[in-house]
Amino acid sequence: MATKSSLSSLITILLLTTISATVTATATATVNSGKQAPLFVFGDSLYDGGMTFYNGIPGAGAEYWPYGETHFQKPVGRFTDGRVIPDFLAHYAGLPFPEPYLKPGVEDYRFGINFASAGACVLVELRPETINLKMQIDYFMKIIPKLKEQVGEEETSRLLSKAVYLFNIAGNDYVTLFQNNLKKTISSSMKKDFMDQILGNITIHLKRIYDVGGRKFAFQNIGPLGCMPSMKYMLGYRGTCKKEPQDLARMHNHAFVAHANSLQTQFPGFKYSIYDFHSSLKLRVLSGPKYGFKETQTGCCGSGRYHGDFTCQKKDKSFSVCSNPNDYLWFDAAHTTDKANQQFSKEFWAGSSDVVTPVNLQTLFAM
Ligand SMILES: *[C@@H]1O[C@H](CO)[C@@H](O)[C@H](O)[C@H]1NC(C)=O
Repeated sequence: MATKSSLSSLITILLLTTISATVTATATATVNSGKQAPLFVFGDSLYDGGMTFYNGIPGAGAEYWPYGETHFQKPVGRFTDGRVIPDFLAHYAGLPFPEPYLKPGVEDYRFGINFASAGACVLVELRPETINLKMQIDYFMKIIPKLKEQVGEEETSRLLSKAVYLFNIAGNDYVTLFQNNLKKTISSSMKKDFMDQILGNITIHLKRIYDVGGRKFAFQNIGPLGCMPSMKYMLGYRGTCKKEPQDLARMHNHAFVAHANSLQTQFPGFKYSIYDFHSSLKLRVLSGPKYGFKETQTGCCGSGRYHGDFTCQKKDKSFSVCSNPNDYLWFDAAHTTDKANQQFSKEFWAGSSDVVTPVNLQTLFAM
């Protein structure tokens, strides 16, 4: 047993060395090209690039097979078979994949960092064991003095104002609301109060970034919660998309558009981009074959109806894994495949105003 674990940690070290070597090579090329805007990433498991894995709670962080099996050929802390959306977006922007803040040895912050972590919520009381949005922003604040040491005050100010701050957050808040009220009706005033608290807290966090010079913000809206295999499983729903979670996600997304617009008046120079992930994913749930997906209801990895029971990678549970993730829209009970993530990223990066408003990410980067 001892031998086996020291062998596997040796393998891990070797793999990590290879990864950092590759990233450094890309990074150097990018430095030479000049005035790149960094990408700072915040959010939940949809954007997690390894934070939860390096946070060290065994089994919490997409660390076992089959995660990572297609693109990386091994688990790398991402809850999908390959890349997450921020990886693709960084690549389109000419940047290396954003490194998770907690990964040992990560000290170069000039291209951005990924703070997103599985289970993260906006409301701090909902999932105390996770790295919530507030903690992610706290981590971000810690890199600023280090960046100043590395590149000086002036260059730090330039980087912070040129940077794009990318968010995918609040989906877990609403999932938790359903989880905590399985046998109760959630009144509309309760939904409204909940949403107002989320929007209020998001504003507080964005302002912290704005106050240190951040100006360019990008948001992926909340996905079709009612079509998620895990939600359907939890609610015992047999059908394509359960209405109540759908309505709640849409209510939030609708309010968020107005909210972002009002932030522009409150914070001079605030610029943003919102990607309508909700509609794009729902479209694929309903018309999978048009986008190259044979299976759009059941996850590739998991167990139970729709593979909505979150057993993927759990060593003490039995689960099954499909042989071709490229046929699938969902990789597990709640996360889409590498192939789907690439399609979403292309829309976010270069899509027209029917999917990303008021400007796409490519335009936001260039501002
Ligand atoms: C932020 O969230 C907390 C609950 O975590 C809530 O009590 C508070 O009112 C919210 N703040 C704002 C400004 O909405």
